Amino acid sequence: MKKILIGTNTKMTKNISETKEFLAKLQTLTKDLDNEITLFVIPSYTTLLAARNIIDGDRILLGAQNMSWAETGQFTGEISPNMLNEIGVDIVMIGHSERRHIFGETNNEEALKVESALKHGFIPLLCIGETSEEKMSGIANEVLRSQLITGFSKIDKNNFEKIIVAYEPVWAIGVNGEPATAFYVQEKHQVIKSTLVELFGKKATCIDVLYGGSVNPGNANEFLKQKSVDGLFVGRSAWNAVNFNNLIRQIIPVWKEKEGK
Ligand code: PGA
Repeated sequence: MKKILIGTNTKMTKNISETKEFLAKLQTLTKDLDNEITLFVIPSYTTLLAARNIIDGDRILLGAQNMSWAETGQFTGEISPNMLNEIGVDIVMIGHSERRHIFGETNNEEALKVESALKHGFIPLLCIGETSEEKMSGIANEVLRSQLITGFSKIDKNNFEKIIVAYEPVWAIGVNGEPATAFYVQEKHQVIKSTLVELFGKKATCIDVLYGGSVNPGNANEFLKQKSVDGLFVGRSAWNAVNFNNLIRQIIPVWKEKEGK
């Protein structure tokens, strides 16, 4: 059975000791699930080294919340791919909604970061999603398509196997977010999957497309039941290790049924 890909970005909420405690607990709670899930955690930069040292082997993939495309130079405040390699990060998240909408990152910048992440051996996790205005104006599909087409414009068309895409509608994220319906999510994941096939050919169906945005125990099963949803990217509902473990255990039977096991 294909494993469920599930992870969390802890945003700017946990310091070093909180991150260590979270990871240690999560690791213990999920230790019998290695054959069923691929788990990843993306904590703040300052916690990455401590996080790396806490993680037992490759049981949890470790991610960075952002990365500069440049290796070195006069880029005050940025973190280089070489620095992340020194720590041993597995995943680099690129273009999270908060990077795009609070810090003004553009599709062209995301493209440079995706290119650089692959070049340095990381798994790029490209986040895409439309705003509520774009949704209301009926241009959500075009927005998603252009985020993918530009975001992946700089990579070798045969080098897509490591990529992950997260669909996170901007209006669904965070405390003021309103979760999307499962029907809407399936429709958008279908647009994403067909755009990926257009870009990389039929083999691109192997690219995992995650849903994120106010995922919680009440809606997670429905999202995961959708044909084109390969996993979940969870924020607030995953920041307590016990709750996250419960959420994971809740979706495993749903996934097995979908996969016909
Ligand atoms: P949320 O965050 O689950 O708290 O809405 C999701 C995200 O930003 O990835």
